[in-house]
Amino acid sequence: MKNILVTGGAGFIGSNFVRYLLRKYPQYNCIVYDKLTYAGNMDNLRDLGDDPRYFFVRGDISDREEVDKVMVDHSIDSIVNFAAESHVDRSIIDPDAFVQTDVVGTCVLLDAARKHSIERLHQVSTDEVYGSIEKGMFKEGDSLEPNSPYAASKAGAELLVRAYHETYGLNTVVTRGSNTFGPYQYPEKIASLFITNAIDDHPLPLYGDGTQVRDWLYVEDHCSGIDVVLHEGQAGQVYNLGGGNERTNIIVTKLILELMHKPESLIVSVQDRPGHDRRYALDCTLLHSLGWHPVHSFEDAFEKTVSWYRENEWWWRDIKSGAFKEYYQQQYGDRLRASAGVR
Ligand code: NAD
Ligand code: TYD
Repeated sequence: MKNILVTGGAGFIGSNFVRYLLRKYPQYNCIVYDKLTYAGNMDNLRDLGDDPRYFFVRGDISDREEVDKVMVDHSIDSIVNFAAESHVDRSIIDPDAFVQTDVVGTCVLLDAARKHSIERLHQVSTDEVYGSIEKGMFKEGDSLEPNSPYAASKAGAELLVRAYHETYGLNTVVTRGSNTFGPYQYPEKIASLFITNAIDDHPLPLYGDGTQVRDWLYVEDHCSGIDVVLHEGQAGQVYNLGGGNERTNIIVTKLILELMHKPESLIVSVQDRPGHDRRYALDCTLLHSLGWHPVHSFEDAFEKTVSWYRENEWWWRDIKSGAFKEYYQQQYGDRLRASAGVR
């Protein structure tokens, strides 16, 4: 493989993956194709600026003509699709963009992959497609029971990927990654939002009782897992990709405050997210059998992440001072007011 199209490469995981790929494979070209929505940010790729193996094309994955053009212009032979609307809370407010990008956009990429006979399309998916599990762990063959519009749109995308493999013999692979944290994460997800709020001594709005469980995965481990599946995965196969770090939200929140030497009084219990999944947990035996294991310990990786946000205020202050304020008000304004004085 030589010319890899990384859609959504200006987002959080995508930009980390581009850096990872260029570092590991000197013979690869990386073509980032990204619409630059609110979550896409050229600052995420700033340090790659003059690498001759890195190209940036602004475009929408649901635009057939633009996708076709980038495929031809850069002789693309593989696609890794990160492009998505990715935040559950936004999908509850307005699901439309999720269907358009996550479902229709993936379909357009699949058609382009067929048309240009590419070697492999890797769909970056999520453990949220399974829905919630009280006990035990999800295996790849389990049924998909998504509960949020985000999870449903990612499940829809995955089913199209499956159908293109079964019907047209397209060489596809899918990874279902768990909750990811690390540098360059748009400060709307719990880790990046709570760290940056804590730096400013602002409240940390914890949904409900905070006992929901997520399996945490450091972004470098997520990238290495995608790398292994992209290169070694079996065509048509889905792989769970989890960090093996199950933690409740309250534990994650307290860890952040402890690492930052901030008081627990910053935690504000707010109205829960509707349809809130209680627990995600992945059985990753299949991916382990390909030789992949996460190498970053949860606590060390969180410490590194906290340091990154502390040392890179230039990156997130800009974001938080723009349109983000409107979103924050809409998402948390009433919740925080209703919880005033409640701990
Ligand atoms: P992100 O929101 O940080 O980045 C998404 C990127 O996609 C942005 O750069 C955005 O501009 C781009 N994009 C959005 N719509 C587009 C379109 N129509 N055409 C082209 N580009 C478009 O997301 P992320 O957290 O980096 O997630 C990347 C992928 O990984 C997503 O597919 C997500 O479902 C999946 N995933 C994320 C997590 C997580 O914890 N963040 C976990 C598992 C899987
Ligand atoms: P999030 O980072 O949005 O990821 P996902 O919904 O994809 O798992 O949320 C992680 C957990 O943190 C989830 O259980 C919801 C909770 N959460 C809060 O309690 N407060 C918040 O402000 C956010 C954004 C999330």
